[in-house]
Amino acid sequence: MSSLSSEALERIRAQFDYGPYPRVPLEATPKENYGALAIHDIRSAFYRRDRSLKATEGACILDVGCGSGYKTLMLALANPGAEIIGVDLSLKSVELAQERLKFQGFPEVKFYALGLDEIGQLEIAFDYINCDELLYFFDDPAAALGQMKAVLKPDGIIRANLHSKNQRIAHYRLQELFKFLGFLDGNPEAAEMEAVTELMNALQPGVLSRAAVWNLPLQLQKEEKQDELEQWLLANLLLQADKGYGVPDLRQYLETAGLEFLGMVQAPLWRLSELFGDRDQIPAFWALGIQEASLLDQAYLYDLLHPVNRLFDFWCSLQPLAPTQAWENLPLEQRLGLKVQLHPQLATSGIEQQLQEKLKLRERFSLARALHGEFLGLLTYEPLFGALIKPLFEKVLSVQELVQRFQQLQPLDYVTGELWELEAVAELVWNFLAELERDQCLFLTQA
Ligand SMILES: C[S@@+](CC[C@H](N)C(=O)[O-])C[C@H]1O[C@@H](n2cnc3c(N)ncnc32)[C@H](O)[C@@H]1O
Repeated sequence: MSSLSSEALERIRAQFDYGPYPRVPLEATPKENYGALAIHDIRSAFYRRDRSLKATEGACILDVGCGSGYKTLMLALANPGAEIIGVDLSLKSVELAQERLKFQGFPEVKFYALGLDEIGQLEIAFDYINCDELLYFFDDPAAALGQMKAVLKPDGIIRANLHSKNQRIAHYRLQELFKFLGFLDGNPEAAEMEAVTELMNALQPGVLSRAAVWNLPLQLQKEEKQDELEQWLLANLLLQADKGYGVPDLRQYLETAGLEFLGMVQAPLWRLSELFGDRDQIPAFWALGIQEASLLDQAYLYDLLHPVNRLFDFWCSLQPLAPTQAWENLPLEQRLGLKVQLHPQLATSGIEQQLQEKLKLRERFSLARALHGEFLGLLTYEPLFGALIKPLFEKVLSVQELVQRFQQLQPLDYVTGELWELEAVAELVWNFLAELERDQCLFLTQA
């Protein structure tokens, strides 16, 4: 059974045949977009669930609703040796995607013009399904998730996302207005885009709906970026079948589909503790409640308090999250034996050079910024810690080896002025590594 009416399906197909998404030139490459590559690296998802490293070689990946294939290219770059298939309702989009992947040196990636409800025809069980910017079109997202689950291996993982109705509330008001004006009756094209632009430009800057959404389009007009403006209009104010959700909706869809929530893809962007200026001022009832709260409840509270994230961008699977290994309770010898590996998308010469520049200037650094942008809560570290992790760009080290390296770099305990006690130096290095792990910059695995 389809989770979309055939009329809605045709509207969406017409929209993306007219304007395949995203509009990125064939020669553009996301090679240095480390954050995007980390999101598309299946090792990020499997590490999140199992705290172990999944081989990309031979893994079967489906990119459903692949559009013009820019994200499929990210999947290909981030997962060496994986077998990748892209499908999309829009034939124009898959043609462009195929051309892109060929141009970028991945002719083996296959594309088919298929709807989500037809993916069973591929007769393949997938290790990983990427379903980006698609789920919010469906009348029944739980059924759509169920269709993906049906072609997922028992230990596979799905990445999907829904629009937050709280973040996007002004967009939905304006979509309603443009629906009322008839702009979405047929396929919105040049005439409708022009009319929207004319209207929005003419409103007083203080009009609430304009103030909420129109800054970026104004900027694009000023810079004469017509193509980007059109893409923005079609993906926002004139997007067919777009819908917004709350976290309880997501919870219900997952339950109905029989899938387990593994967390938001960029977990640091959902960290409730970042919403408080002074950690000591957090009310006790709140702090205690949060300790008990599930990840979905935490996301719900975040979206209600600070709806800045456009997408609930999540991983889910048949298997639940491995019981959180209480790293903090692990005896010292076991911690010392863990292997430390930089996230493969960070272990690049580009990032190493950036770190080296900071070290030369004796400046603080942040690895997490390369993955998550200039997000307020990401910690920066002293150059000493930068020097500590430099060898990780070349090889995997144990926690013990990093503790020894720290002692070579800084032989004396800053507090006592004496040689380090093992426990004190191990704790210092451990806390640093645990923070980097929490910010998705490195993997800690059992030897
Ligand atoms: C917003 S674009 C996202 C493209 C790409 N995933 C990305 O994030 O760049 C949505 C894509 O989903 C496709 N699509 C919409 N409904 C679909 C369906 N039921 N089955 C397969 N593809 C669909 C559209 O044709 C369009 O190319």
